[in-house]
Amino acid sequence: MITIALAKGRLAEKTLDLLEQLGISCSEIRTGSRKLIFTTDDGTIRIIMVKPSDVPAYVEYGTADIGIAGKDTLMEEGRSLYEMLDLKFGGCRLVVAGFPDKKHSGITQSHIRVATKYPNITRSYFSGKGETVEIIKLNGSVELGPLTGLSDVIVDIVESGRTLAENGLEVLEEICPVSARLVVNQVSLKTRNDEIKRIIDGLRELLEGKES
Ligand code: PRP
Repeated sequence: MITIALAKGRLAEKTLDLLEQLGISCSEIRTGSRKLIFTTDDGTIRIIMVKPSDVPAYVEYGTADIGIAGKDTLMEEGRSLYEMLDLKFGGCRLVVAGFPDKKHSGITQSHIRVATKYPNITRSYFSGKGETVEIIKLNGSVELGPLTGLSDVIVDIVESGRTLAENGLEVLEEICPVSARLVVNQVSLKTRNDEIKRIIDGLRELLEGKES
């Protein structure tokens, strides 16, 4: 049986919608059950509900054959897996943000502190610019960093931009766009190629149909 690791939270609903359009439906998940492991209605696929940042680990170790998670999480985790498909939903941007005055004074001051849920992305982004920064790893509401003086700026995802705007913060630099991706375990792609390919081809057709 194929196992799919599905990121709980902001991507979950749209992922389930997409899978349903492919005929992979799981009515039990829709009931709001607190269970963590489900079987699809036709009994052919197992779906595990995973904290988004844990999806890459489940897929790398083969506990899940397929995973669906945001590009931000994949970049941050840096796991060995195959990224097969851009699912085009869950669109947002990874940015450096802070108070607008940081833009004018430049955030290239000699020592800046960056609060983020993404320490690896942050380190590689600033080192790519030849800048050394002090990274403070937070687990949520990172906008509080500049607001409380804990950090100068943040690296975070921006979707609607409301959280930044309502806290007087602005995007200072764009790092990259983000969307949901389908990833596959490297061994599963060989050993369960037919089943995995059927899902990927189906999703690709669906996505192409939406674009045209
Ligand atoms: C994310 C992100 C921002 C916010 C951006 O947080 O870290 O705080 O959403 O969305 P917006 O641009 O639409 O306002 P999330 O809601 O995942 O919660 P968290 O801060 O607890 O991680």
